[in-house]
Amino acid sequence: MNARRGFGSGDSAIQAIKDRLNIADLARRYVNLQRVGHRWMAPCPFHQETKPSFSVDEERGSFYCFGCQASGDLISFYQRINGLDFKDALEQLAQEAGVSLRDRPAGPEARAAGDLRRNALKMHEAAKNFYARNLASSAGAACRDYLARRALDEKIIQGFELGWSLDEWGALAALFERSGFNKEQGVQAGLLTKSDHGRVYDRFRHRLMFPIKDLNGRTIAFGGRIIDNADEAKYINSADSPLYKKGGNLYGLFQARRAITLKKSVLLTEGYMDVLTLHQFGYQNSCGALGTALTPEQVKRLAGFCSDFELLFDGDGPGRKAAMRAAEMLMARGLRCKVTLLPEGEDIDSLLKAQGTEAFERLRRQAPDGLGFCMRVLKADYAPKDIVAWTRQFLASLEQPEYFSFYASELAQGLGMEESLIRRDFSHTLIISAQSSRRDNFAANAGLGTAGAGPAGVAGTGGTGKALRGPAVETQVLDFLARYPQYAARLREAGAEFVFATPRGLEFWAKIMDCGPDFAEPDILASLDDKQRAFWTRSRDFERMPASSEKERLQLEQICSGIERLIAKQNNHSRTQVLSQLNDDDYEVEVLKSLHEKLTGKPLVESKNE
Ligand code: UTP
Ligand code: MN
Repeated sequence: MNARRGFGSGDSAIQAIKDRLNIADLARRYVNLQRVGHRWMAPCPFHQETKPSFSVDEERGSFYCFGCQASGDLISFYQRINGLDFKDALEQLAQEAGVSLRDRPAGPEARAAGDLRRNALKMHEAAKNFYARNLASSAGAACRDYLARRALDEKIIQGFELGWSLDEWGALAALFERSGFNKEQGVQAGLLTKSDHGRVYDRFRHRLMFPIKDLNGRTIAFGGRIIDNADEAKYINSADSPLYKKGGNLYGLFQARRAITLKKSVLLTEGYMDVLTLHQFGYQNSCGALGTALTPEQVKRLAGFCSDFELLFDGDGPGRKAAMRAAEMLMARGLRCKVTLLPEGEDIDSLLKAQGTEAFERLRRQAPDGLGFCMRVLKADYAPKDIVAWTRQFLASLEQPEYFSFYASELAQGLGMEESLIRRDFSHTLIISAQSSRRDNFAANAGLGTAGAGPAGVAGTGGTGKALRGPAVETQVLDFLARYPQYAARLREAGAEFVFATPRGLEFWAKIMDCGPDFAEPDILASLDDKQRAFWTRSRDFERMPASSEKERLQLEQICSGIERLIAKQNNHSRTQVLSQLNDDDYEVEVLKSLHEKLTGKPLVESKNE
């Protein structure tokens, strides 16, 4: 079955994009392609290597890597290399190709959300220009002095479009009013704040302003620093808005992306000022985590550019902890990392400015790799039982079982543990997680899902908030769709179809979608088979409907964001996904057995308990 079936008019848009853009031309922007027969080859941009195992087939419009098995079409290539989700990638490519994605009239909800974003972008652009003008004007003299004291080059100030927010309560609000935006819109965009008494004022006042940009260079948020010792928070950051979610972006990534792609490595630090100073001293492949612990979302974004991370964190207690968590997360995803801790009381900015690149390079040369760093901290700060617990959870967090072999013996040696025990533990974890994914898979295959008692049933009363897996999302989507078929178009827009890993699920989805937008229940029931009909009827048990449309929309948004997360992960051939796509029971067991054998060197004796 064609995987794109049921995407509706988006289908033709995707085809139009592929007709107008050439996958080899697109890939050539990121890698050096050489002609080999009827293909193009290059070292793979998605994993660390020097041999050309990445191949592009222009005729088919696809790419494939013999080394890491990354594969896909023009859109998934663009998605991965830029760390974007499907929707963003599609939108950007559509823009580049001059293809309209809006050939069907958007519903009022989608239109309103689009307007909100567009207006917020305009307001951020206006605010950024306003702050920059302020900095250059006489009102910005104190801030310019401050930047001079911190020895920041004019080139960096311009390149990062720094600015100054005036020492007034309503300067930006007045600018918005003049540009035709009302106060409420300013509040929605996160640039104005509303007090408990309903008074609206500028969120950022009397601060050095750092615009935070998306990958297209559009300003989507700000950070603002005090420049004197006022009795206030040192930095204020934008609140979450339609454009910006805390932890979803990185400071300076827009300016750093080219250098990161070129050098195939990234320097990751914590502070705004540190990012600027790194760029000023020639480390253009630097960006910042924006005052949060490194998030999976940020890692995902960066991993689209390179697999080699260098963490630069504070040398104090919290800095060590944060560095360790970040290193764990990177290693679990099979990424390379090194950790440099700054001497206590020093940050990159002060080090580079006081001692220059020489001292910084010395420090970098001494940096242990991620695992070495974690083991050093473990041995210094942890009791044996905590070390064992850490090892277990770290190995359980590996995204692909193959990574295990990279860490097992080093862990055993470094921590003085029996390697065979580590291996036994790990294969145990693997079997358990494979078994649970198998159960979900069977449920979906039966067309019953886990709706009766499982996650989908719980979701009906307000959502679980748990991480979603493929088959679980499948069930949720079908369950929700059965109750609220009026949201079919919205689910399709979110890419629901792409989460269906089981043929049964996909068939179910296609049957419903084929009944068209004027959803007629008798038609649907006629097309379903017995098990599907039972599922459908149970889902439509109206007792389980949320009491308000508010809740229902909330649930829709939860499902859609679950879908988006899954699609973003679609190129990761994680073991759960690989296993959940297998339908032949015997084959699945074979895979498990061989995995077990590979890891333990012993054959798997099956304990029948299902
Ligand atoms: P630091 O306090 O180390 O500041 O916070 P800094 O970046 O070195 O700034 P300078 O050199 O004093 O000018 C590190 C990062 O933590 C976040 C910011 O992202 C900051 O860059 N932070 C810090 C906040 O978000 N709010 C705060 O109040 C403080
Ligand atoms: Mn600093």
